[in-house]
Amino acid sequence: MKLSSVLFTISLLSHRPAQATSRDWQDLNIQVGGRLLKGVPISTPCFSDVDGVAVNPNLTACNEVKAGYDDELVRSDVPGAYMITQWETCQSSNQQCLLDYLDPENPAPSLPSQMCRTGSVPHYFIDVHTAADVIAAFNFSRKTSIPLVIKNTGHDYKGRSSAPGSLALWTHNLKNITYSTDFVPEGCSKSSPALTVGAGVQWQQAYQFADTHNFTIVGGTDRTVGVSGGWVQGGGHSALSNTMGLGVDRVLQFKIVTPDGKVRVANACQNTDLFWALRGGGGGTFGVVLESTTLVSPVVTVQAILVSITSPSANRTKELYSTMIDNGLKWADDGYGGYVSGGTAVYLTPKLTAAEHAVSMAPLVDFGKRLNATGTGVYQVLEFPNWLSFFNVFTETELEAQGPPVGYSIAMASRLVNRANFQTASKRTELLDALLAATELTPSLLFDITAPSSFPGDNTTSVTPVWRDSVYHVTVKVPWNWNATTTEKLHGYDLVDTSIDHLRKITPTASYSNEGAVHEPDHEIAFWGGNYARLLELKHKYDPEHILDCWQCVGWEPTSLRFSCYL
Ligand SMILES: Cc1cc2nc3c(=O)[nH]c(=O)nc-3n(C[C@H](O)[C@H](O)[C@H](O)COP(=O)(O)OP(=O)(O)OC[C@H]3O[C@@H](n4cnc5c(N)ncnc54)[C@H](O)[C@@H]3O)c2cc1C
Ligand SMILES: *[C@@H]1O[C@H](CO)[C@@H](O)[C@H](O)[C@H]1NC(C)=O
Ligand SMILES: *[C@@H]1O[C@H](CO)[C@@H](O)[C@H](O)[C@H]1NC(C)=O
Ligand SMILES: *[C@@H]1O[C@H](CO)[C@@H](O)[C@H](O)[C@H]1NC(C)=O
Ligand SMILES: *[C@@H]1O[C@H](CO)[C@@H](O)[C@H](O)[C@H]1NC(C)=O
Ligand SMILES: *[C@@H]1O[C@H](CO)[C@@H](O)[C@H](O)[C@H]1NC(C)=O
Ligand SMILES: *[C@@H]1O[C@H](CO)[C@@H](O)[C@H](O)[C@H]1NC(C)=O
Ligand SMILES: *[C@@H]1O[C@H](CO)[C@@H](O)[C@H](O)[C@H]1NC(C)=O
Ligand SMILES: *[C@@H]1O[C@H](CO)[C@@H](O)[C@H](O)[C@H]1NC(C)=O
Repeated sequence: MKLSSVLFTISLLSHRPAQATSRDWQDLNIQVGGRLLKGVPISTPCFSDVDGVAVNPNLTACNEVKAGYDDELVRSDVPGAYMITQWETCQSSNQQCLLDYLDPENPAPSLPSQMCRTGSVPHYFIDVHTAADVIAAFNFSRKTSIPLVIKNTGHDYKGRSSAPGSLALWTHNLKNITYSTDFVPEGCSKSSPALTVGAGVQWQQAYQFADTHNFTIVGGTDRTVGVSGGWVQGGGHSALSNTMGLGVDRVLQFKIVTPDGKVRVANACQNTDLFWALRGGGGGTFGVVLESTTLVSPVVTVQAILVSITSPSANRTKELYSTMIDNGLKWADDGYGGYVSGGTAVYLTPKLTAAEHAVSMAPLVDFGKRLNATGTGVYQVLEFPNWLSFFNVFTETELEAQGPPVGYSIAMASRLVNRANFQTASKRTELLDALLAATELTPSLLFDITAPSSFPGDNTTSVTPVWRDSVYHVTVKVPWNWNATTTEKLHGYDLVDTSIDHLRKITPTASYSNEGAVHEPDHEIAFWGGNYARLLELKHKYDPEHILDCWQCVGWEPTSLRFSCYL
């Protein structure tokens, strides 16, 4: 026998088969106050064959599912629903329970000949209310070897909040939210205004709360992503991050249950190593966060510009990209963040006055004028009195125009584009060519102008330091529908890699752990740079038995059976 196959056999043996009797589950249900929920894919009521059992579809419930199929608010309220739907399925065995996202009314996916299979949806969910629920789950997993996952909103692009046959800790209903003008992290002495939220709070609720109390909280583009889960633990980027920092820069304290069953408070004054690890090391790795506290800032006036090409052409795209790249460093220094995709560019800054904004953005305004003059596009220069008023317009118009953000399967890859890529004329040409080549392969290319370009940080976070020297975080994606073949799915994963390779060739090895490729090459360096070794030590310190694990997370074990559904 070759050494490699011996090692492989040993690694298989080290995975005790997961076994839980119905008695074990009943006991667990009692321990968690009856809040153990069966894991059921959201589309189940539409099917007549559910995990091999003949049932009557529930048409009322099925119609509700169809009506909310691409609605992220609906999905985030349902334990067995994921935003990116391949993570509900078992891709390797082709077992799934999906509808047609382009036309949820299409009867084809749920005809009697089609089967609904639980796939990667966890076997059971605990609706977490207390630390004791989490401790019970750790004990249960230790005893039975049933894999544990943590699910908050189910936005993960890399399938890290589901796993076949698992027990999920569902943190969605931890909705407490409080504001303090003089929050002092436990054990510290310095105070600052801060927002404390339960792990289930989502951006929509936090933005509304911030608006009511007249302050700014720095968060993402999507109203249903969670404030305390994967977003902040992996980095957390925002259109305000340029000047105000990433989520990890602003978090002041976590309350977390570590796998040893201890409830810990991690901040700059206690459990400081854990605090550092949670500021970028990634969700699902060091424990279950119950609550986070984050710095808030005074209200900012948002100067914005929106330019949209309505008659797309290769020339117009090139002109837009050239304008962006030629002004990339200047706009980074002027505090701009934003998003550019599908011929629409949104830039905003909290740093300039309206007059300064007009001067800084003159090249983009000129481009907008050329579009308008030729009837090929529109532009608007806008001022918003605060973040929420911008966010509402942005989500209601721009995001909608780009199609449903969720409810279908997506392969994604990403790269951080460095300041050095803008430094000389030849570098700028090289960058333009790479971006155009990537756009040609994957037209959905998105510029997240969300790097902390003007926010140096203080060396107390564990994300890759390359974030600080970056101007863009670029993502590409390839979608597929319910009936895609395995070959098509593999092609999707390959295509995003081939596309982002154009940027990988000319940039430092750096990507965002939450939006990286499923098969991100050199992922330890790409996500964490030189911080990886220390993060791995802390993984061993806080989770020595490896109760938690997720795909390409710190210290992951790729051969674990929990990953058996990945392609
Ligand atoms: C439509 C869309 C828009 C997005 N926009 C942005 C954006 O603007 N900025 C940005 O930075 N990212 C964005 N993302 C990416 C987002 O940050 C990640 O998907 C992130 O993982 C979501 O975290 P979640 O907790 O909401 O989701 P989940 O899928 O529930 O969890 C993600 C990961 O975090 C872990 N986790 C969740 N809760 C906890 C907890 N309480 N304790 C410990 N671990 C936990 C899970 O185990 C999993 O590994 C977007 C994603 C989507 C789908
Ligand atoms: C069918 O679904 C509806 C709506 O979710 C629910 O109220 C009803 O009880 C279900 N009927 C059956 C027979 O399960
Ligand atoms: C978990 O297990 C530990 C010891 O392994 C035990 O002391 C504790 O009571 C258990 N807690 C729960 C909630 O089951
Ligand atoms: C939420 O807040 C209420 C009221 O302040 C408190 O009683 C409760 O313990 C809090 N729940 C959690 C999970 O923190
Ligand atoms: C909100 O805060 C801003 C800046 O901190 C202040 O100028 C303004 O008066 C406040 N508005 C209200 C309604 O309190
Ligand atoms: C594209 O731009 C080039 C030069 O910038 C010009 O020569 C060409 O005519 C343009 N093509 C179209 C279709 O507008
Ligand atoms: C764009 O052009 C139209 C006329 O075609 C004009 O009414 C409109 O004001 C222009 N928009 C801007 C922002 O200049
Ligand atoms: C952060 O670390 C770098 C490299 O070690 C150092 O150059 C820099 O001064 C540090 N910054 C702060 C704010 O401590
Ligand atoms: C998938 O279904 C759609 C209609 O729902 C159809 O147009 C398409 O050809 C199908 N694709 C495959 C691979 O079967």
